[in-house]
Amino acid sequence: MTTAILGMQWGDEGKGKITHLLAREADMVVRYNGGPNAGHTVIDRGEKFGIHLLPVGAFYRNARCVLASGMVIDLPVLREEYDLIVDHLKWEPEIVIAENAHVILPYHKLLEELEGGGSRIGTTRRGIGPAYSDKAARVGIRAGDLLHPDRLCKKLAQKINLLKQTWPDSPEISSLSADLLAKDLLAAAEPFLGSIKNAMPIIAQALKRGDNVLFEGAQGALLDLDFGTYPFVTSSSTTLAGLGNAIGVPCPQIDCRIGVMKAYATRVGQGPFPTRVTGKLGNFLQQAGNEFGVTTGRPRGCGWLDLVALKHAVALNDPTILAITKLDVLSGLDEIKICGAYQLGERETKTFLISAEELALCEPIYESLAGWKQAIRGTTDYESLPRAARTYLERISQELQIPIGIVSTGPSPEETINIGFDRY
Ligand code: GDP
Ligand code: IMO
Ligand code: MG
Repeated sequence: MTTAILGMQWGDEGKGKITHLLAREADMVVRYNGGPNAGHTVIDRGEKFGIHLLPVGAFYRNARCVLASGMVIDLPVLREEYDLIVDHLKWEPEIVIAENAHVILPYHKLLEELEGGGSRIGTTRRGIGPAYSDKAARVGIRAGDLLHPDRLCKKLAQKINLLKQTWPDSPEISSLSADLLAKDLLAAAEPFLGSIKNAMPIIAQALKRGDNVLFEGAQGALLDLDFGTYPFVTSSSTTLAGLGNAIGVPCPQIDCRIGVMKAYATRVGQGPFPTRVTGKLGNFLQQAGNEFGVTTGRPRGCGWLDLVALKHAVALNDPTILAITKLDVLSGLDEIKICGAYQLGERETKTFLISAEELALCEPIYESLAGWKQAIRGTTDYESLPRAARTYLERISQELQIPIGIVSTGPSPEETINIGFDRY
């Protein structure tokens, strides 16, 4: 049995909560892309965690956790996160780190500042872009290199030489030392050295055995490097197609694909966001939804649901069911708008525009639906939802042509409506 958790918007859809719910029954949870740019919120036995690197399965003894080769891993961040969780759980989760996952080094964060990624795109400044660039340029350090300190030092020295040639005027780059970097890296990685393995056969064997394997995606379809709103995207593949490549196992094996989406839209960082609303309503959504980044604390822009963008995400992720989160946030509104098409100059389009420049010129064409006044936080029964809320959900399902399996009505695991979904 295989399940994938796939973000359908610009990230922060509530993937952490949904992964945590499903991981209860999982034999293995594989985080397959991104790095500590992700922030997946989990409420485990009443305590709140913002998880950046560990697969959320780490909260359960039954789930073996894999950090797959599609990830970029910052070892000091992983260590801090692991220690925090061990302190909470009082036992040590079993993890596997793919030997071909790349490692984020301090110079990646430095390069992000020197190259202006933070200000130009609004990145999370966690070194993600430069680490994936090194991977593509074939000058990256991989987790497997940590098992061979001499090889590690040699590769670091080569990379640092290159950096010194490219940035002769940077005092921070000039002061880099391969030996010191290797020493710090190995110290941070020390508890995990036994966990660095070839993850591909481990995942493949679990699939062959018919284990319950859960694949945890980070970010969302609209942040995909190729099919998102480039250049305002992250540097990894965030969709179902990316999953196969990130784990080295073909995707047709993923039989349950959960498209996780918020009941409205948010985006953090820069880039086009046609349905963004500002002013009183924007503030209302931001406050009611507590829309502040888990990783950076930045306020997230908020807006109405964008069906054009969601249909693009459906095409990319091919979900078999939807998990719609944060429905409770919309309580109290007189009307709820939904965008079914864009106006681009003289032209009306229902097709998402891959070009960020063109998307930025699109005006949303809205339809108005009735809102509802009742608070629904914590509702667990679909029939108890106000009629207008049910109409809204049914409309989304009908437009996207996908059944809804989960509706989330609050951040805690209990605050969930299960609609005939049998996987947790
Ligand atoms: P992720 O990156 O996709 O895992 O999402 P984040 O954790 O970054 O952001 C989702 C935020 O919404 C977190 O603060 C969650 O605790 C919270 N959340 C998740 N589901 C719900 C819900 O149904 N209602 C409300 N009010 N909050 C939710
Ligand atoms: P989760 O997994 C929301 C955004 C950043 C920026 C762009 C590029 O929690 O949904 P990067 O640091 O990746 O180079 O930044 O992508 N971004 C996210 N936004 N949720 C995330 O992850 C994100 N990961 C990256 O804000 O706009
Ligand atoms: Mg997040």
